[in-house]
Amino acid sequence: MIGIFDSGIGGLGAASQIRKKAPRADLVYFGDLANMPYGPRPVHELFTLTLDAMTRLRQAGATEFVAACNSVSVAVLAPMLDLFGSSHARVIEMVGPATHALYQLSPKKVLVAATLATVRSGLYERAFGAQGIATEMIALADLASAIEREASPEELNHLILPAVKRAQEIGADTLVFGCTQYPFARAAFARAFAHAQMPMRFFDPSEAVAEQAVAVFNTDGQGKTLVLVSKPSAVFEKTVHQLFGPSVCVQTVGVENKVDNSVER
Ligand code: DGL
Repeated sequence: MIGIFDSGIGGLGAASQIRKKAPRADLVYFGDLANMPYGPRPVHELFTLTLDAMTRLRQAGATEFVAACNSVSVAVLAPMLDLFGSSHARVIEMVGPATHALYQLSPKKVLVAATLATVRSGLYERAFGAQGIATEMIALADLASAIEREASPEELNHLILPAVKRAQEIGADTLVFGCTQYPFARAAFARAFAHAQMPMRFFDPSEAVAEQAVAVFNTDGQGKTLVLVSKPSAVFEKTVHQLFGPSVCVQTVGVENKVDNSVER
């Protein structure tokens, strides 16, 4: 069984693409809504949350894992897999597949829009840079949370505008969705760039991640889909039904407070 996790709806993008490519794969998804957002958190908290998410998924039957969250990929998993060697790992993170797929597109100048944790790590800049891809990053601090609560088009536009400005300044031809929630606001990104009369290619790493998952993980199951959250959310549930059909139900599992949620993020 393949276990996929994220702070919220973001990883549902990769999960639904895995489902499309592998109808018989058994999938279990964990959305850690009680601890969302992950982006502003320090590395030690992301480490704790990653361990917790993977433990929950393992208890639910997962033996292979997809970290469908850039913030934990860059802060915890990519550096760890790099140290231990990723070729036999049962974990797929975002950066490796994204770098490989982006390279095939030969972009001229890339802007990665992401959370604070992802920008702070500098990992995308280094990984893309090592392939000769000129890359800059911008943190859109509140955008993931706004997408999770289905903020208005005006609010989304306001939060996306700094990326449009930065892309104009550096002459980017490709915008990488460096946070898995952002493709859920693809239409708002498209409107903001169209309004600025700036042609832009959008690149969603989740597609490459899903491709790698079906290539290396066991996809010969019974087509089960189990979805767990650490806090209920109507937007999350609606998104699950849109992507997987109305018969897939979302179960809320208990949370132990392992990280400090008293800080406003
Ligand atoms: N989906 C995550 C990412 O790709 C984190 C969003 C958040 O919780 O801040 O970085």
